[in-house]
Amino acid sequence: MISSKRIVCLVVTALIAGCASTPAVGKAQQEKSRVNKLVIYADKGKETINRNIYGHFSEHLGRCIYGGFWVGEDSAIPNTRGIRKDVVEALRRMKIPVLRWPGGCFADEYHWKDGIGPREKRPSMVNTHWGGVTENNHFGTHEFLDLCEQLDCEPYICGNVGSGTVLEMQQWVEYITFDGKSPIADLRRENGRDKPWNVKYWGVGNENWGCGGRMRPEYYADLYRRYSTYLRNFGDNRLFKIACGARKSDYPWTEVLMREAGRFMNGLAPHYYCGSGKKSRSATEFGEEDWFAQLQRALLLDELVAKHGAIMDKFDPKKRVGMILDEWGAWHQVEPGTNPRFLYQQNSLRDALVAGISLNILNSHCDRVKMANIAQTVNVLQAMILTKDEKMILTPTYHVFEMYKVHHDATLLPIELQCRDYKFGDEQIPALNVSASKDKSGRIHISLCNMDPKNSARLVCELQGTKFKKVFGRALTADTMTAHNTFDNPEAISPIAFDNFQLKGDILTVTLPSKSVVLLGIE
Ligand code: AHR
Repeated sequence: MISSKRIVCLVVTALIAGCASTPAVGKAQQEKSRVNKLVIYADKGKETINRNIYGHFSEHLGRCIYGGFWVGEDSAIPNTRGIRKDVVEALRRMKIPVLRWPGGCFADEYHWKDGIGPREKRPSMVNTHWGGVTENNHFGTHEFLDLCEQLDCEPYICGNVGSGTVLEMQQWVEYITFDGKSPIADLRRENGRDKPWNVKYWGVGNENWGCGGRMRPEYYADLYRRYSTYLRNFGDNRLFKIACGARKSDYPWTEVLMREAGRFMNGLAPHYYCGSGKKSRSATEFGEEDWFAQLQRALLLDELVAKHGAIMDKFDPKKRVGMILDEWGAWHQVEPGTNPRFLYQQNSLRDALVAGISLNILNSHCDRVKMANIAQTVNVLQAMILTKDEKMILTPTYHVFEMYKVHHDATLLPIELQCRDYKFGDEQIPALNVSASKDKSGRIHISLCNMDPKNSARLVCELQGTKFKKVFGRALTADTMTAHNTFDNPEAISPIAFDNFQLKGDILTVTLPSKSVVLLGIE
């Protein structure tokens, strides 16, 4: 059956059922003979992949903001009004569409008025959640919105429900977006910004079931209704109000929020971190057991989005409320010798696979998922960029986002995928994970992940509804599962041209390297 919404991984059930009574040799032969086959329905796409699915998240945590984005105007590191030029250029190349700020858990401790006005006069605070370090508030509202302008991306601000007030959040919106005369808008002008900014995406608290106030869903739903009432639309600014969503598989949270407050929200934001390995939690020292466990957990995203989505469908069958997965990614042990609360981790080929399959899954749910924000952009968790003083490196995850930018605002194409399993011990996952889209110029892109770290995969692709003329490709892979970039070897893993395919008539046969992310373009 063709599904326009989901990647269909057709497991040949008859074959599997037959396996139970077949001798071991027969089983192995059957598995080997199972052909990897992909059918793409090039003329049947309906849904658009919102580019904000490729969004990002930046928190006052460790070295994400300070040292990552912000170095200050007096720094020897090249900057524009205090913001690192190298980081901005790299993120622009990746076409970053939206950036969430200031947290995370920090958001529910942040008081925005401390972060405006002359920097030397701004009060400090203790960042109690993230290491008890002193936050000097030098990076505040004006700096964040300047950063978004430099990045040419949409800002997404998360307001404080846990320890803030309704008035405080109400005034923040007014400060940023009101063009008329009011004490708050005049304060913005005094601080050097005459014209208001447009800010569409507004979060009402973060993880209010945990660090954002340990609330029960009923209580938070009522607070959401109250806070969101006072978030006003000024001029032509139209807020897209986002409620705190569930942790992982907390489906009752989604149920209560949708039932009690669904009609007052534009988005509901669950979080899902897929953790690390099984035995080792190191980002770069791990074995196949850890590789398998990590990818298996990343694949769970499909089920989580489907199940939260089904609950949302009950209350919102027309899918007016977007699912906004505003925190996701891998969470490893911090790098040895670094502050455990700074969440600084390396990033390997395994993380690239996590990113590749997660983005494919999110594409496949683009009828409901309208934004996702990987955690976090620079120097924290599954980062795009790592910095060390004036140096900057791009991670394998960055390269996946850069390769996949062709899916932004493209039409999702229905596919059918039949593939072999990747087995480890007694368990198995499908070896391949795929997404396809058609962009505005009619070019088709297919993103393919081969999760098997040992075996390449021959995939026969049939494109229905159009003719192949020209195919081109890029691949991200390496000799080892743990390959990663370092400040001494920043190009250890980066995309290479890929041409291991043959085109015969309407059939394209591709050989995907083991442990790889491949992007094919077809015109
Ligand atoms: O991204 C790090 C933290 O993870 C965020 O602050 C919080 O929302 C989540 O628990």
